[in-house]
Amino acid sequence: MAEARPFNWEYRPPEIPHEVFRVAGGRPLHGSVPISGAKNAALKLLAAACLTGERCRFTNVPEIEDVRVMAETLRDLGVVVDHPEPNVYEVAAGDVDWLFVPLEAAAKMRASFMLLGPLLARFGEVIISNPGGDRIGRRPVDLHVEAMRAMGAEIQYRYGYYYAKSPGRLRGAEINFPFVTVMGTENAMLAATLADGRTVIRPAAQEPETDDLIEFLVKMGADVRRTAPDTIEIVGKRRLRGAQHHVVPDRIEAGTFMVAGAITGGKIRLQGARCEHLRAFLAVFDRMGVRHDCGPDWIEVDASDTGPGEFRACDIATAAYPGLATDLQPPTSVLLTQAQGRSMIHETIFEDRLEWLTELRRMGANVELVDPHHAIVEGLTRLTGAHVEIGDLRAGASLILAALAAQGETVIHGAHHVHRGYENIERKFVDLGAHLQRLAEGITPLSS
Ligand code: UD1
Repeated sequence: MAEARPFNWEYRPPEIPHEVFRVAGGRPLHGSVPISGAKNAALKLLAAACLTGERCRFTNVPEIEDVRVMAETLRDLGVVVDHPEPNVYEVAAGDVDWLFVPLEAAAKMRASFMLLGPLLARFGEVIISNPGGDRIGRRPVDLHVEAMRAMGAEIQYRYGYYYAKSPGRLRGAEINFPFVTVMGTENAMLAATLADGRTVIRPAAQEPETDDLIEFLVKMGADVRRTAPDTIEIVGKRRLRGAQHHVVPDRIEAGTFMVAGAITGGKIRLQGARCEHLRAFLAVFDRMGVRHDCGPDWIEVDASDTGPGEFRACDIATAAYPGLATDLQPPTSVLLTQAQGRSMIHETIFEDRLEWLTELRRMGANVELVDPHHAIVEGLTRLTGAHVEIGDLRAGASLILAALAAQGETVIHGAHHVHRGYENIERKFVDLGAHLQRLAEGITPLSS
């Protein structure tokens, strides 16, 4: 059988609003910022709600584009998704009309593939598009598919779609991934909650968002346990019940705002952030000499007394949790431009995630792309305003960070990428004292 290849026959890309961020940089940011619920938890929780016909309720759901896409995708299947107030979603998947996840959903968001496990386990079949998501590497889904096959599913790939069927109940299985995959772990885990027998997943993702999902599944009546740091065991049940859950705070958003405080010479308290989820990232701050403090439900970064050039260069390497998150590599790279000396960046997870550094170079950063996985940053450089283009979510937020630290005005094209994953980012930055506006492409204001 042919394996997945990109396929765009009859496909029309979604309408994209042409928006830009205009940022007048060079102002220290001060104050307190509330950290929203984690995108990478919320999306999987919404998918998990399809494991039961009973109503599930989620609070602290971030108001972001990816959540709206997931909600729309579920509604298109016939699932009831209510949004009674900001940050609250209710899902009732009693009946579904279609077991079909179209390319339109998949092209907007890779996490649409998280519907494979729950729909297959509960309804015995689904046709689901090969996903798109960020342009950061090939990002195949072969490990998700192999995990479902190990549980007895029959899956064929035709014309850009996976046709997945389970002749009876899925069967528990030993799933041995060749390396850690976050959504692969989560997809297999969701499917296994309704499978017949015991499933063991190894090496399993250790991300806090994966544990948040486990917590919710247990509330639904699932038998899911992390029996070793890298092992998750599930004993399948015939039915699960509805449950309520408060989404874990977004450690990637927290890390992004920490860099904003450091890079602008400001002082920011991240309300709701959890230090224990950011250990590897905070270790980088320690090595660079960026002052920070941890409270029970906040983190504070204070660079208000730090002069230019006081941060130290530092070599970094991304890794699966508890290592340094690849999603925090772009913000950290911006911070490294403001450190004294040479830093090496080793991006171990995705092969295209350093490409955005060419945009950062337009702003004056001294960055050399050695190969798809390595880059060298020479600091300290004075960043200056420029016209730059966002290619993906995390790079987008990082260009805003660079713009906040830069002298002069920066125009950042492709603002929609950022709204996929950051709730009201412009409001949060403005409240901290940033001069930042989101405008339709072609409009000029921002003169002060
Ligand atoms: C998730 C996160 C993303 C984060 C990434 C790594 C969500 C919605 N997204 O993405 O923000 O950057 O973890 O922490 O939670 N791979 C395969 N075959 C597969 C699956 C993955 O080869 O079937 C490879 C990927 O190309 C990558 C590596 O495995 O090189 C890890 O990717 P994975 O952990 O699966 O990332 P996602 O779950 O897609």
